[in-house]
Amino acid sequence: MSVGNIVGNSPGTQAPLFEGCPPGLVPRSGRTAYCRVDAFPCEPAALADRILNPLEREHWTRMRAVDKRRQEWLLGRYAAKSAVRLLLERDLGMQPSFPEIGIVPDPYGCPRVEGAWIAADLQPSLSIAHSQGTAVALAALDPGVLVGIDLESLNHRRENYEAVAFSPDERSMLAGLPYELRQEWALRMWCAKESVGKALGRGLSAGLLAFHITGIESASGKVELELREGAIEQFPRLRGKSFTISTVRESSFVFSAMIYQQGVARMRPSRQEILDYLLHKMGELTQDWDYPDPVSAESRLFTELGFESLDAVVLCTAIQEHYHTAMPFAELLAEIGQQQRDLSINELADFVDTHLGAPAGVDSVSGRIQ
Ligand SMILES: CC(C)(COP(=O)(O)OP(=O)(O)OC[C@H]1O[C@@H](n2cnc3c(N)ncnc32)[C@H](O)[C@@H]1OP(=O)(O)O)[C@@H](O)C(=O)NCCC(=O)NCCS
Repeated sequence: MSVGNIVGNSPGTQAPLFEGCPPGLVPRSGRTAYCRVDAFPCEPAALADRILNPLEREHWTRMRAVDKRRQEWLLGRYAAKSAVRLLLERDLGMQPSFPEIGIVPDPYGCPRVEGAWIAADLQPSLSIAHSQGTAVALAALDPGVLVGIDLESLNHRRENYEAVAFSPDERSMLAGLPYELRQEWALRMWCAKESVGKALGRGLSAGLLAFHITGIESASGKVELELREGAIEQFPRLRGKSFTISTVRESSFVFSAMIYQQGVARMRPSRQEILDYLLHKMGELTQDWDYPDPVSAESRLFTELGFESLDAVVLCTAIQEHYHTAMPFAELLAEIGQQQRDLSINELADFVDTHLGAPAGVDSVSGRIQ
């Protein structure tokens, strides 16, 4: 295996930030870091030993996927952890080791940074992409900043995906381009959709046409995009917002990136998002418990799921850590103990929803694009 060229950071050396970042992809201002890895720096198993924490290593060992997927996952983790380390070192003088930077997918698959060093006002946002043996990651430190990154190879053979990926309006933009630019711009538009989906944390699950391209600027590589039906229901506060995504072609790759600054208030999770998180967390905590029926919102912790008091405390602690918010769980548990009643996951979601602080309906998402 060839020795990889890690651009942006390698353990023991301090390469400049943004080295290897295609010009124009990511602004050099602001507390962001970009990292690109083009190949493994050593055997994959040795890299896994060096950079993964025990939970991640177990995940990697058990991952049931083709070799290509396992390797890209690992390379993505290397790029992501490197980007977060660069950011923490440059902006905060912190030097956590690779294993101390945990990366855990949230219920929607969005990578979330975890670690003992994380505090309420310190939660980096992170995005990862990989293709054809190259991985890139973009991380940001400022509260309320969301990041999304994507890359695709022009060498990868794809035919006629445009009819499914793009609306008639979007296809007419492509039709207006010189023939030799069409394939490249179709990929730029695709990558732009992925960057927005990743930055908002749901990927393209709302549907490809829910991410609607309203304009392209061939000189600068900028793509303008709005959310449409499908995505608007997920993000009602972003109705009518125009997102600007940078796209760049460099040799056979097309890259896209978006850095989106939310308004003063951080996006507060909706009641449904809290419930999704709780069900995901319950799935994790009880994966070996062998229930006859699937865990649902109505499932009750003690009588149906067999929780003991300590299990409930572990769950409550995980919830507080996840939301970086202290909530009166001790009182809740004492109250249900006194009343000798049980607690459903739905009720727990109501409790978390009530105690998450600032109201959700802040309508002032500013949408500044850096
Ligand atoms: C997220 C998504 C855009 C990734 O696209 P892709 O071309 O397959 O893969 P990429 O290399 O660009 O990105 C993969 C990374 O995206 C990140 N990702 C996955 N889900 C994400 C989400 N909901 N939000 C943000 N990032 C996400 C992960 O870090 C993943 O890498 P990892 O699994 O190794 O950690 C895509 O898988 C998706 O939209 N999934 C939603 C499911 C769906 O409905 N897909 C149908 C659309 S065709």
